[in-house]
Amino acid sequence: MGCFTFVKAVMVMFNLLICLAGICVATVGIWVTVYENSFMSILPPFNDKIWSHVNVGIFCISIGAVMTWLGMIGCCGAQKESKCLLIMFFSIVLIICIAEVAAAVVTLVYSSYAEIFLRMWAIPGLKEQYGKNQIFTNLWNSTMTTLQCCGFNNYTDFSGSYYYKQNGELYPPACCLGLELFPCDEDNADYSRVMGCFKRIVKHTKMNVNILGGIAAGVTAIELAAMGVAMYLYCYLDKKET
Ligand SMILES: *[C@@H]1O[C@H](CO)[C@@H](O)[C@H](O)[C@H]1NC(C)=O
Ligand SMILES: *[C@@H]1O[C@H](CO)[C@@H](O)[C@H](O)[C@H]1NC(C)=O
Repeated sequence: MGCFTFVKAVMVMFNLLICLAGICVATVGIWVTVYENSFMSILPPFNDKIWSHVNVGIFCISIGAVMTWLGMIGCCGAQKESKCLLIMFFSIVLIICIAEVAAAVVTLVYSSYAEIFLRMWAIPGLKEQYGKNQIFTNLWNSTMTTLQCCGFNNYTDFSGSYYYKQNGELYPPACCLGLELFPCDEDNADYSRVMGCFKRIVKHTKMNVNILGGIAAGVTAIELAAMGVAMYLYCYLDKKET
């Protein structure tokens, strides 16, 4: 009896915390949505142009709502000793767990192909579209300026390109960082050794990926523990009935 009461109290407390945390996350989400323009630029991971399209506010509201709802089910299920709510809680957490694992697998598989797809898209684009297609040029201009990189691998991606021919055999200025006073010809581009954008992006995302992976591992551990506790309570109540 002592053990059951203790586990039940832990389950109630833990789910109250999840519920409160969910309300906080949703509140932050609403706040971000309302004050998006002023707020987003403060958060370091989101002041990149690449990220500003991701709607962080909506994401936080959704996550917060799910956490609040799940916390309430878990809390009520344990407090009222309701087998139905407990098994519901268990099933929802299990589904979330499976979805997380699936997302992780898809991300891993996708990222190993990402380089191939990016290379197939980027290098012919740089040769033929850069300087011709406004959207493509803008995208590369802002990437190269923000990340201080040049081309996909290096400046040689521009050799013989449309831009190169149109501009008197010169490379885009971003390829000659630190030599802005001189025309960006082959010698200067080679000398300034500006890193290719692919390498830069990989470097840039690696840290974020590590943080995300750590958070995902922590969340999964909590989910497994919550599932174990819910199952224990369910089995105990089931046994008591018979
Ligand atoms: C991109 O940068 C190049 C080189 O600085 C410049 O000539 C071009 O006008 C820019 N294009 C756009 C669309 O911003
Ligand atoms: C530029 O990148 C290509 C492809 O990765 C590589 O073969 C070449 O050696 C590089 N050139 C310089 C100057 O780094």
